[in-house]
Amino acid sequence: MKRIAVLTSGGDAPGMNAAVRAVVRAGVEAGFDVWGVERGYRGLVEDRMRRFTRRDVSGIIQLGGTILGSARLPEFRQKAVRTAAVSTLQKARVDALVVIGGNGSQAGAASLWKDGFPVVGIASTIDNDLVGSDPTIGVDTAVNVALEAIDRIKTTASAHHRAFLVETMGRHCGYLALVVGIAGGAEAVIIPEIEQTPGQIERDLRAAYECGKSHAIVVVAEGATNNADRLGEYFRKREPDIGFGLRITKLGYVQRGGAPGGFDRVLGTRLGAGAVELLARGEAGKLVGMLNGALAATPYVEIIGKTKELDPKLFELAGIMAK
Ligand code: F6P
Repeated sequence: MKRIAVLTSGGDAPGMNAAVRAVVRAGVEAGFDVWGVERGYRGLVEDRMRRFTRRDVSGIIQLGGTILGSARLPEFRQKAVRTAAVSTLQKARVDALVVIGGNGSQAGAASLWKDGFPVVGIASTIDNDLVGSDPTIGVDTAVNVALEAIDRIKTTASAHHRAFLVETMGRHCGYLALVVGIAGGAEAVIIPEIEQTPGQIERDLRAAYECGKSHAIVVVAEGATNNADRLGEYFRKREPDIGFGLRITKLGYVQRGGAPGGFDRVLGTRLGAGAVELLARGEAGKLVGMLNGALAATPYVEIIGKTKELDPKLFELAGIMAK
């Protein structure tokens, strides 16, 4: 194997650039010719790739986003689209591809592998919903960005004895909201995995005021049935009776943007170098992640289509701490 290519796909995550840099530098070190693909699978289909040297990835470890650009390409589920991508790779005499991305991107990578092209994945998403890596690249930074917002909201909430709701990203996974809720000292956390009624949330908030708290914070995952919009509506109607309203802040893309923290820079670097190691050993068809604190390569057949389980003990802990 002589030439490898790397792309970033799907939602960007802080730390992706550290992984790109590591693939390029560890790749060159291992004797590979390394190519970068622009804008994910779209760049493969449109033949937008070029050779990268160590210097091409200078000064990027601290940058958010991805210097390669990213895209979502649902059409990649079609065999004909993947065939076009493989023909770009073959024309450039690329022997293997590294895909840095989350669930959808790794499903695409697994399909390419099934079609017969050597691929290695790197677990990267702020949702932290990928089986095969305990933390995925970006989630630690996203948690810290959300916490900065919550810490600020708490001061204004206390000043007015108000209740606030903060909605986090995470798609169908409640990890981000749960961890942010615990670390942000929330009075209630609402996640898709454990549904709660608006009436239950109302009781939690009333209890917070009754036990003498000066504010109440609810953290809700965007994927929960009772999300920010639904709870906002419920509390608007209930305000005259219960005596307080619920002010809403949706953090949205703020969580995904900006500079990666130290943890994600190191994680991206380790996973990028780990992917190169795997390819140097002639292995492929695996996702590189961290399991129990160590680098791990899990075959795609063991992870695609599976959902990462959320630890129910963490949810329980959030409830105990809220009282
Ligand atoms: O997968 C990362 C993520 O930020 C999710 O948390 C969110 O639901 C989704 O991407 C948003 O997708 P898009 O960038 O396509 O709007």
